[in-house]
Amino acid sequence: MKKRVFIENISSYLGKKVSISGWIHKKTKIGKVVFIVLRDGTGYVQCVFKTSDSSPDEIKIARGISRESSVTITGIVKFDKRAKGSHELLDCSISVIQEIEDNYPVSRKKHGAEFLLNYRHLSIRSKKLLSIMKIRDTLIWSARNFLKKEKFICTDTPLITPAACESTTGLFKIDYYNNNAFLSQSGQLYLEAAIASYGRVYCLGPVFRAEKKKSRRHLTEFWMIEPEMTHITLNENMEFQERLLEKLIKDIIQENSSELATLGRDIEALGKIIFPLTKITYSEAIDMLKNTENEIDWGKKISFRAENYISSQIGKPFFIYLHPMWQKAFYMKPDSDYSKCVLSCDLIAPDGYGELSGGGQRIDDYTMLRQSLLDNELPAAAFQWYLDLRKFGSVPHGGFGMGVERTLSWVCGLDHIRDAVLFPRMIKRISP
Ligand code: 4AD
Ligand code: MG
Repeated sequence: MKKRVFIENISSYLGKKVSISGWIHKKTKIGKVVFIVLRDGTGYVQCVFKTSDSSPDEIKIARGISRESSVTITGIVKFDKRAKGSHELLDCSISVIQEIEDNYPVSRKKHGAEFLLNYRHLSIRSKKLLSIMKIRDTLIWSARNFLKKEKFICTDTPLITPAACESTTGLFKIDYYNNNAFLSQSGQLYLEAAIASYGRVYCLGPVFRAEKKKSRRHLTEFWMIEPEMTHITLNENMEFQERLLEKLIKDIIQENSSELATLGRDIEALGKIIFPLTKITYSEAIDMLKNTENEIDWGKKISFRAENYISSQIGKPFFIYLHPMWQKAFYMKPDSDYSKCVLSCDLIAPDGYGELSGGGQRIDDYTMLRQSLLDNELPAAAFQWYLDLRKFGSVPHGGFGMGVERTLSWVCGLDHIRDAVLFPRMIKRISP
């Protein structure tokens, strides 16, 4: 009796006849034998068509079938330590679901990045992209499981919003029944409402930024994991972020070592990161830059280059906290000891991957928040509901947003953030 199985489970069917549905990954003919490497998303297996075991018709089909055609191959599972995945299928027969007639556009030769992005709908079939997507899946489930264990509930927030959360310059405007509306930059403001109902909440979904920057780290649509919680301090906020990151790394190493290896990521280095992470204030960061080519005056933004210099000194992810007020969003709570700074914290990855997460403590006082809206030239009327939260049972609270693609890029060691998402959206790319 044949049975349909997935390639990843094939070792449980030694000596049995199984059917595997997938796509032709590779085909080689040696003399009268045809070797087909079949892939089904869970793995790769070599299928052998020999004149002594397969019918002449089957061999003819196997000989002629082109790469990426969809097929079901039936055969007997045999252990063979030389074969890819240590198993192969013998005595094979093939049933064609769709044979490709045109030339498959993505050939085995090296294509340029733009070509592959134009054919993204096909190029995502590569081993590299499949590995990244599997790691992305682990990252998302790991974050959700971690937050569930920490008693957070997932309260997803609207994507169509009437006002800015982060900065008014990075908004995508949309026409909402003849009124202006915007695509959400962050769910944070709504999460701040939800904490008064539940205490610990998060959202995990897409956000949008009309970025002006073209870089290896910026997408215009990306995903964020945003936990928000009551009664925490800035230190607890940072500790929570590092525990989340530690868990993500641990789960990814455990679940995806073969995918990390496919991507050429140094797994040992990833596993060796020692927690807790280094935490430096913005002022300490400025001190570290003194007498280097990146030296800047206190108050200026730390450039990406300067950030990389600091990260090369630390060599693992680290936090910069307590930034000058004018560098951060209107909701950031001022530090009581030093009123020029806010209780902010950014988690920075090494090796030029940039900020993995950004967050901090939120203003919980009504008058102070109203003033901050005015100082930031934001329309208080549009934020009245947000101000209300400071009127009706306000509590100290904070949270952060971890960028899924940024974190994935660093964990996987990708050259560009565009590969951390299936169909990247960037300044100059919206298709396919
Ligand atoms: O630092 P950001 O702007 O923080 C917020 O949006 C807060 N409201 C989050 C919160 O506290 N709930 O963005 C958070 C993270 C960054 O650290 C970065 O990882 C990622 O989102 N990010 C981007 N990722 C890809 N492309 C972009 N253009 C990104 N902008 C930010
Ligand atoms: Mg930030």
